[in-house]
Amino acid sequence: LGSIRVDVSTVTDGTEITVMWRGGPVFIRHRTQAMIDEARAVPLGDLPDEASRNLNAGMENASAADENRVLRPEYLIVKGNCTHLGCVPLGIGADTGDYDGWYCPCHGSHYDASARIRRGPAPENLPVPDYYFESETTVKIG
Ligand code: FES
Repeated sequence: LGSIRVDVSTVTDGTEITVMWRGGPVFIRHRTQAMIDEARAVPLGDLPDEASRNLNAGMENASAADENRVLRPEYLIVKGNCTHLGCVPLGIGADTGDYDGWYCPCHGSHYDASARIRRGPAPENLPVPDYYFESETTVKIG
């Protein structure tokens, strides 16, 4: 019910797309190695929300370490509504905020390169939907 398949072959290194799923946006970012390294270097104690919020592979209750937010390090896939009041944050090509992730201009929430809240009123990290890779280039969401 309500699954979509997305061809990510055109989402090149350092770019992202937004797809619609179950009435809301989902961000799919193909991270560069530098972005991955940056996300993984963040001390967990710096995170306002220390939960992974990833529905996949038993990671829902894991820590918010970047490894627990992705199935493949290069692809970060998260729901695209700010956890404050639901606006759609800006990303690559518009404004990635102060932590190289997403910036929500509604009230100034900054998310990092793992889509974890770092500063601003949003209480939680952007949640990771259930998804898996059917092939090297096709991801099924839902
Ligand atoms: Fe994003 Fe308020 S809705 S900061």
